[in-house]
Amino acid sequence: MKKATDWWKKCVVYQIYPRSFNDTNGDGIGDIQGIIEKLDYLKNLGVDVIWLSPIFDSPQEDNGYDISNYTTIFEPYGTMEDFDQLVAEMHQRGLKVVMDLVVNHTSDEHQWFIESKKSKNNPYRDYYIWRDGKENGEPPTNWGSVFGGSTWQYDEETEQYYLHLFASKQPDLNWENPKLRTEIYEMMKFWLDKGIDGFRMDVINFISKDTSYPDGVNGDGGPFFVNGPRIHEFLKEMNREVISNYDVMTVGEMPGALTDDAKVYTNPENEELNMVFTFEHMNLDCVYGDKWNLKQIDLVELKENFEKWQTSLHSIGWNSLYWNNHDQPRIVSRFGNDQQYRVKSAKMLATCLHMMQGTPYIYQGEEIGMTNVQFDSLDDYRDIELLNMYKDRLSDWSHEKIMEAIYAKGRDNARTPIQWDDSANGGFTTGKPWIKVNPRYREINTKEALKNPQSIYYYYQQLIQLRKEQDIITTGKFELMMRNDDKVFAYKRVGENETLLVLCNFSDQSIHLHDEEVLSYLYDATLVITNEEFEKERNVLAPYESVVYLLR
Ligand code: NOJ
Repeated sequence: MKKATDWWKKCVVYQIYPRSFNDTNGDGIGDIQGIIEKLDYLKNLGVDVIWLSPIFDSPQEDNGYDISNYTTIFEPYGTMEDFDQLVAEMHQRGLKVVMDLVVNHTSDEHQWFIESKKSKNNPYRDYYIWRDGKENGEPPTNWGSVFGGSTWQYDEETEQYYLHLFASKQPDLNWENPKLRTEIYEMMKFWLDKGIDGFRMDVINFISKDTSYPDGVNGDGGPFFVNGPRIHEFLKEMNREVISNYDVMTVGEMPGALTDDAKVYTNPENEELNMVFTFEHMNLDCVYGDKWNLKQIDLVELKENFEKWQTSLHSIGWNSLYWNNHDQPRIVSRFGNDQQYRVKSAKMLATCLHMMQGTPYIYQGEEIGMTNVQFDSLDDYRDIELLNMYKDRLSDWSHEKIMEAIYAKGRDNARTPIQWDDSANGGFTTGKPWIKVNPRYREINTKEALKNPQSIYYYYQQLIQLRKEQDIITTGKFELMMRNDDKVFAYKRVGENETLLVLCNFSDQSIHLHDEEVLSYLYDATLVITNEEFEKERNVLAPYESVVYLLR
């Protein structure tokens, strides 16, 4: 048995969405050999861990978050030999690999579900959540699914409904069943024994449901499965049975987890998880918790949200830090400026996040400042969530209003292929890509970035390096400054003998700093990193400037 250490506290993670990363066989879909080809690029960036979005067999209803076999590889991505080669090549380079664990649900094409559906007394029936409808024939509850419609799908054959919090092709697993849990733990061991270094756990705080299945207010089932009744028990069991026997990292994706929940999930004494992905900071630019209902971000709210997470978890649990992933629009288009100030604002946003306490996650393409896309035709979009949303809203919203929402928030913004160079399809594939390449590939691509010492890529490289050199980034206490300023995000990281001062201008205006505390530090401090090319007056922040000082 290996003793768990906390190596992940000093690491930077890079997320790969394999479908859109790099295609080596011309079928228009990324593959494992494509990842291997780019390992030196990632090593050079300086990241320590690579998280692979699901690469398992899947009908790809939700691009692999619908798994039909947990221990085989999706054929267009390659073979198990390719995977073993990938892990070996990563480890040779000192890179660790984290896999996606999607165990709230499977695909309806998983053998367990095929069996489960056969009859009420099939041995696998209880691997999923089957219920009779209400007396009036309606579904068992009024809950709405994340991807639209009811969370219940009626099965004519056995005259019952099954639960699916996501698409109807993603039936929820029944974690109440100990046999199912054991199978999942065995599957986890299969991958860990192959030498992987951890798991990112998909919507893991949804696995325990209130088994009385009550109706929700306005169809919101959230209160009955988000951080559900047995969640801590299940995570502790998983930790005891599996995780604790390996020196690996775990991060739980947890929509609806608040700081008080995260303290429990990530406190090492509780032996559950190392860190969680919160969604709070990603829900501030929408109204009524409806991601498509757009609202301008209020910087003061964003700052206070980070402050809450930074201070609540300090010396208790551990934060993960992210702006981007495969479900979120591109940050430079969202909170930065993807036109005149693309490079500057991308660097500013990176600084703001990477100087905080926690483990930073970089999503593929973020390191070159990839932007959102605006396809004219809905036919060019692929994501089930946005396509369903379009259909659902058309009765209330105009086509234009829905497209605005898709341009701002659609998940396909993150899923267009990586722009490797300025050749056809951005060098992603020699075939026809499964989703169109962002037309800005001629200007924004890794080849350009690698040629230019001032590129966003090299800036990320420096930020990653800084985390290795300056312990205060890992350990210092976060203190928000200039709280009510709606353009500048300023904070300190306070250590025993030193303080880091971080100033980020989230606006396209020059800002004269008047805050007395900030001014009192400015002139004695040593410059650590900035996105400004030339030295200038310290008491003025240029548009989208970020600057970090060290005070001893
Ligand atoms: C969260 C994943 O990140 C997302 O891509 C997926 O659609 C849902 N969970 C369902 O697995």
